[in-house]
Amino acid sequence: MTVYIKSYNKRFISVIKGDDFSEFNVNISENNNKPQIVLKNVNTIYEGERYPTLFDINLKINQGEFIFIIGPNGSGKTTLLETILGILPLERGMVEINGESVLRNGSKIRKNIGYVIQGIEFDPQTPFLVKTAAMVSRSGRNGLLKRNKKGDRAIAKLCLDVLRNKHETEDYWDRPIGKLSGGMIQKVMLANALAAEPDILLLDEPFANLDIKARHSIFKLLVKLNQIAKITIICVSHEAVIPKEVNRLIIIQKGRIILDEKREIAINSEKFRAYSNYMANY
Ligand SMILES: Nc1ncnc2c1ncn2[C@@H]1O[C@H](COP(=O)(O)OP(=O)(O)OP(=O)(O)O)[C@@H](O)[C@H]1O
Ligand SMILES: [Mg+2]
Repeated sequence: MTVYIKSYNKRFISVIKGDDFSEFNVNISENNNKPQIVLKNVNTIYEGERYPTLFDINLKINQGEFIFIIGPNGSGKTTLLETILGILPLERGMVEINGESVLRNGSKIRKNIGYVIQGIEFDPQTPFLVKTAAMVSRSGRNGLLKRNKKGDRAIAKLCLDVLRNKHETEDYWDRPIGKLSGGMIQKVMLANALAAEPDILLLDEPFANLDIKARHSIFKLLVKLNQIAKITIICVSHEAVIPKEVNRLIIIQKGRIILDEKREIAINSEKFRAYSNYMANY
């Protein structure tokens, strides 16, 4: 059966379908253009709070970067992702994506961002089906009140299938999401983030709940999406090892960026060693 696919990004679909990539140049070229994401002197403050949660954040991120963000619980990692998304108030500073303010043009900008929320859980009685949850981002991209098309469904299904690894687990596309295991839910959330064919992926501990095999295969898929489809990936992680495909590492502590360096420099730095030692001593 041929499936009609309405794609925004041919390279993205090639990666998801597991096509041969030899025709593409997979080297990440140095990007001399304007940064894709810019945060300047940002303080993020939650409503009703007296003090900001993030202080003086300055970041320039180019298209095609693969960044890991690490830091202790409560340091502000999720807050940083949601600041980039433009869904939190700023006390000062500005956040721009492709030169546009996320606070002014957030709903348009967010159509091109896939976001995996940390540790989402569903009421076991929720009537929502997996297929509905996996297509939320697709509907967002099409526009409110526009019906999903057959192609949207095909892409969302393709995304879940590639994450699901069909040799291991059953097809749960038609099941209520509240009845899935933690790892299955995580894959549906990832499928939804991918289904929008985003330019930017913001992943908040995407490997939580996943078994070691799923972690490996999903990380490999992310690397391909990054290197071939040039999707910028910003990933919060508690993994002790920073994979070599990650090009940049950011450490956050108490709401401040204390390290922001290329991976090679970062993992050999005193601050990274101190952080790793602190985490390993319990
Ligand atoms: N809605 C909110 N209102 C007020 N404070 C909040 C809100 N959400 C988070 N915070 C606070 O902001 C700080 C940073 O939280 P954040 O969730 O960004 O941490 P994190 O680094 O993602 O931690 P974890 O590793 O546990 O996920 C914490 O002190 C938290 O209590
Ligand atoms: Mg968090």
